[in-house]
Amino acid sequence: MNQPKRYTITAALPYTNGAIHIGHLAGVYVPADIYARYLRLIGKDVAFICGSDEHGVPITIKAKKEGVTPQDIVDKYHAIIKTSFADFGISFDNYSRTSAEIHHETAQEFFKTLYDKGEFIEEITEQLYDEEADQFLADRFVTGTCPKCGNEEAYGDQCEKCGTSLNATDLINPKSAITGNVPTLKQTKHWFLPLHKHEAFLKEWILEGHKKDWKPNVYGQVKSWIDDGLRPRAVTRDLDWGIPVPLEGAEGKVLYVWFDAPIGYISSTKEWAERVGKDWEPYWKDKETKLVHFIGKDNIVFHCIIFPSMLKAEGSYILPDNVPANEFLNLEGNKLSTSKNWAVWLPEYLEDFPNQQDVLRYALTANAPETKDNDFTWKDFQARNNNELVAIFGNFINRVVVLTDKYYKGIVPEASEFSAVDQDVLAAIKAYPDVIASSIERYRFREASQELLNLARLGNKYLADEEPWKLVRTDEARTKTIMFVALQMASALASLSEPFLPFTSEKLKTILNINSNDTTNSWNAVSSKKVLLPAGHHIGKAELLFSKIEDETIQHQLDKLIASKKSNEAANKKLEPQKETITFEDFSKLDMRVGTILEAEKMPKANKLLILKVDTGIDVRTIVSGIAESFTAEEVVGKRVTVLVNLAPRTLRGVESQGMILMTESEDGTLVFVNPDASTDAKVPNGLHIS
Ligand code: MF3
Ligand code: ZN
Repeated sequence: MNQPKRYTITAALPYTNGAIHIGHLAGVYVPADIYARYLRLIGKDVAFICGSDEHGVPITIKAKKEGVTPQDIVDKYHAIIKTSFADFGISFDNYSRTSAEIHHETAQEFFKTLYDKGEFIEEITEQLYDEEADQFLADRFVTGTCPKCGNEEAYGDQCEKCGTSLNATDLINPKSAITGNVPTLKQTKHWFLPLHKHEAFLKEWILEGHKKDWKPNVYGQVKSWIDDGLRPRAVTRDLDWGIPVPLEGAEGKVLYVWFDAPIGYISSTKEWAERVGKDWEPYWKDKETKLVHFIGKDNIVFHCIIFPSMLKAEGSYILPDNVPANEFLNLEGNKLSTSKNWAVWLPEYLEDFPNQQDVLRYALTANAPETKDNDFTWKDFQARNNNELVAIFGNFINRVVVLTDKYYKGIVPEASEFSAVDQDVLAAIKAYPDVIASSIERYRFREASQELLNLARLGNKYLADEEPWKLVRTDEARTKTIMFVALQMASALASLSEPFLPFTSEKLKTILNINSNDTTNSWNAVSSKKVLLPAGHHIGKAELLFSKIEDETIQHQLDKLIASKKSNEAANKKLEPQKETITFEDFSKLDMRVGTILEAEKMPKANKLLILKVDTGIDVRTIVSGIAESFTAEEVVGKRVTVLVNLAPRTLRGVESQGMILMTESEDGTLVFVNPDASTDAKVPNGLHIS
């Protein structure tokens, strides 16, 4: 799209069942904020929209656990999350919530429109039901094995491992998350969005239309879903927490959370428009509006297939121009996890690092999981701060301000003749806004942040090469010129750092005595204005922009993580109660033999499974084993194992598994073989009975 008239930028509505952590910030909110701030700086008309996602099963599960109402949960976390966003400078134009009346109305109206247009299939089908809890099981109320990748902890609406969107009845071995029972089937009426009807449109719009400009990870996922064939998807649920289905005869039914939540972008836009006296409609209906959804990779199917199909079916809405989804951020080598408390929570970070929001914003941007999953480590965080923000950016600014104060009482000196080096530096300053903008506009925020740092680097090098502190004794005119150039650079950094480091930018503008309200076109001014800080301008006093983070501070954070790991392990070590008694006959039916793994290979497209060839002494057979997360194929070859050989064969993803390898768990939860040789010096021959 060339030159859109306005931008609607959305950031995924966070679930209100926990605080925000660094993964959310890195994956969604910081990049979205950089983008929105940048666009405002170049004078664009922007609506940057978000809000709390307050429906859905996880919230009711949490409420049940804590013995409070879902409303209590969402009220609590809505407040916490909203504060965190404000604290970290995420500059939403509106932050709403899906419990807001305007949202209920908007979502119901949207549903009603599709219903009236005949865009749904109404059908009585058999859905999973928990007899004991007297409740239908959908979404996160049910877990089971993903039919696509074999992940045993897939949810009723999605497998988080492979990203596939599922219907609860697709799960293999489903289990109720409420009682642990095996669900039964019960008939119920629901409304389905016939995704297959939109296949042709999706193919043309995404597969043909956005092959070049969408990120390969997003495009690839979408293509694989479309290639797999799309199926109707229920958009209503038998639950009591959610937005009531606005139809007669639908009592006790609510809209599926993923139906209502994205409509939250629209209702939040309406709320904003009403507040500021604008018309919301062009932001969602004018073809010259550029709509961009910032999300994490687990949200791709909803934003690229389901929501667009809804918008298309409704008929009057525009579609996203791009969906720059990020991959996941890990923490110190492990997956971020709310339930395991393996995270850096924003409220806690602020307590430990007061006024250092920009450091986290910067560290997360510089190491953003843009093209692949990435790891956040405290060491890297410290290095980004000490070696980049302090040593390069902060150091340059500090030198310029201190020297200006010392030599000229804080007044920008008059330049005389510019040398070739000066001219190069001045030209480079003018070129940077476009360089950084080009990265931002292609959603390459880490690259953009590094370009910003390069500008500061250039400033440092300029001072180090020109050495005004030496020249000041011999060449007054030359010193003034150098300081004049350096001050222009400082001013450019104040403007160009704003999207990335908003607090620092503000501080720097105060130090340089630049009117920070006058941001209109301040980005373009860096390249277009002849002089940014004119001679005679009075700057303020030096103040440190960043300060060094010591090893102890980092160690403290690492200790916190170790503590949380330990408490997890303790929690996990609760031993299961003894199973029902069995008879000797039962036991003697088990035929367990000593064996050796001869060959191993990974099951294609399955994260957990290895295909093993095992010498059991009586034969060599194939066994498919779910150990690939603990072992590589290479390292298990030659391992001595205990094999249950008379287990009925089972076909796993097309491979027949003839038996089972006995495993147990080590303290940290990784799998270990029940090794027949472990406690003896002698090697037990293959095939020997275990009794
Ligand atoms: N609450 C969802 C999550 O945290 C995101 C919802 S995005 C929206 O994964 F589009 F539905 F709003
Ligand atoms: Zn899966």
